[in-house]
Amino acid sequence: IKKISQIYIVACGSAYHVGVVAQYVMEDLAKIPVRVELASEFRYRKPLLDPDGLVIVISQSGETADSLAALRLAKDKGLRTLGIVNVVGSSIARESDLVLYTKAGSEIAVATTKAYSAQTALLSLIALNIGQKNISKAELKELLESIKKLPAQMEILLNKDKKYQEIAETIYNKEDIFFIGRDIDYAIAMEGSLKLKEISYIHSEAYPAGELKHGTISLIEEGTPVISIVTNKNIAEKTISNIKEVKSRGAEVILLTNSKCDVDSDFYNKKIVIPTTHKLIQPLLTILPLQKISYEVAKLRGADIDQPKNLAKSVTVE
Ligand code: M6R
Repeated sequence: IKKISQIYIVACGSAYHVGVVAQYVMEDLAKIPVRVELASEFRYRKPLLDPDGLVIVISQSGETADSLAALRLAKDKGLRTLGIVNVVGSSIARESDLVLYTKAGSEIAVATTKAYSAQTALLSLIALNIGQKNISKAELKELLESIKKLPAQMEILLNKDKKYQEIAETIYNKEDIFFIGRDIDYAIAMEGSLKLKEISYIHSEAYPAGELKHGTISLIEEGTPVISIVTNKNIAEKTISNIKEVKSRGAEVILLTNSKCDVDSDFYNKKIVIPTTHKLIQPLLTILPLQKISYEVAKLRGADIDQPKNLAKSVTVE
């Protein structure tokens, strides 16, 4: 991996969203160019691939038809391939040159949660492994210490059911919900939005906060929920200014933030404070409240949470 020129991450659905997180983390830490592609697009668009590149296919099931086809295409073009897979012995695991198992345990519910977290953790560790030479000893120490604290911090977040129920009560009967964020927070917004729509059947969309002005803001009305993620203090101010814009148009802002970012209480209706950690592993914490809120919303709507309509756990056909 240390000799490769470029990484192509190919996946579908939530696994693609893991790829988007990994793109930010890998480029920041490992300093290798990363391109993330949806497998269903990649396989048909005649991609120009650098022969010294590495194709990483992320898949919980290891059987997703589009991801498998993308893997085969990359191999036909002579690129090395790495599968990040949960199901041992699955097609993608068997056909990849290298495989790293996420070992999240078997995942039964259609909506992925623990596999998403395990994939994100694994890719972050790969980035750290390649990129440790690019950071100071002090930062490396801080990152490793932050990683050790994650399980306890996750526990804290998973035990805030009352808070998630309270938020779910305010949004479960809405028709449209928006998620916004910048940088890695946008990658998390994408996954939060998918989780909500797939199990609760509420229309939701994720937008990079800076794109709001280019169209989506016209959809914001009195009472439209906007779940706003602000965890990176370096760009917090920019996202906060977008939050102000939606708030002044009547949006009901649900803010996810940490102690590093200071958001005036005039600009949100409800707030969830996420434990603070190193910015590159923050996604592992930020996603949890979004998964739990989706769960509570789906429950209030009486939906079958483990088995949402029209969806299959593993998409083995196009
Ligand atoms: O098994 P895979 O990781 O390849 O599956 C990819 C997607 O089908 C999957 O992540 C899907 O988007 C989930 N239902 C999301 O929760």
